[in-house]
Amino acid sequence: MDYINRSDATLSERPLAGKTAVITGASSGIGRATALTLSGAGAVVVIQARRRDRLDRLAEDISNRGGKALAVEGDAGLETDIDRLLDQTLAWKDGGCKYDVVVINAGRGLAGGILTSDQSQWQELYRVNVLGAAYLIRRAGQYMVERKGGDIVAISSVVAKNLSPFGAFYGSSKAAVSVIAEAVRRDVAPSGVRVSIVMPGIALSEFQEMAGYNQANFGNAVAQFGKLLEPKEIADTICWLLALPPHVNINEIMIRPTGQIYP
Ligand SMILES: NC(=O)c1ccc[n+]([C@@H]2O[C@H](COP(=O)([O-])OP(=O)(O)OC[C@H]3O[C@@H](n4cnc5c(N)ncnc54)[C@H](OP(=O)(O)O)[C@@H]3O)[C@@H](O)[C@H]2O)c1
Repeated sequence: MDYINRSDATLSERPLAGKTAVITGASSGIGRATALTLSGAGAVVVIQARRRDRLDRLAEDISNRGGKALAVEGDAGLETDIDRLLDQTLAWKDGGCKYDVVVINAGRGLAGGILTSDQSQWQELYRVNVLGAAYLIRRAGQYMVERKGGDIVAISSVVAKNLSPFGAFYGSSKAAVSVIAEAVRRDVAPSGVRVSIVMPGIALSEFQEMAGYNQANFGNAVAQFGKLLEPKEIADTICWLLALPPHVNINEIMIRPTGQIYP
């Protein structure tokens, strides 16, 4: 179902109607596509990123398609900004002063391995990819256990399980995200809270430029993989797993371009 481009779907075709979904890193790529897709499937969405202008444009896009969005500018690696994101969500009347879904998506890559990556970026990468994600998972988990339901979707990566030739230090951060998410799943599952780890392969977005990928360290190798993923294809997967009956939890899902042999 193409939720992004459908504003005419009937209620029965909107499996996320009545849900409020918080999405971090929504100003670009997978986060932006997820906000549009979940909104198209009936959810109201709370979108976070640092670039306010991008968030405002996305909120307008969603509103033009008949949806509702609350934009909360902030840094996904800062506890105070995560607290503000959740506090504003809980105060948002259009969202029902609650949230049902959290998509922990904000993150960045870094080209190179342990010996070769730019070490001055290590702390920043872990601050956002790991500590920010852990803090949001913790706060959302505590809230959802109390409510006895909800969905935590953690965007990890194929490189969490397969050592990446493009960015091994980055891969270590995604391995941490997967472990944290699986650990919390064991804590929250008895309360009816689902946790899903989504591990995308290579999707074209701003990620590659931000990570410092170029023709030499990335482009030449991936040319053989054929057509790469679009962010929307990952968003559709997230939407699908959220729409399953509450007793069905896809714990992990890996989605690669068909031609991607590795990582
Ligand atoms: N693209 C891929 O091939 C791929 C594969 C596997 C996993 N992933 C993962 O998928 C997620 C999304 O990546 P993408 O491909 O959509 O990349 P993208 O196009 O670069 O988007 C990254 C998003 O994260 C946000 N972000 C980054 N640092 C942030 C911070 N400190 N605070 C708040 N927001 C922050 C950015 O917003 P602002 O700059 O406006 O803050 C942007 O909205 C990441 O976790 C990435 O590791 C990507």
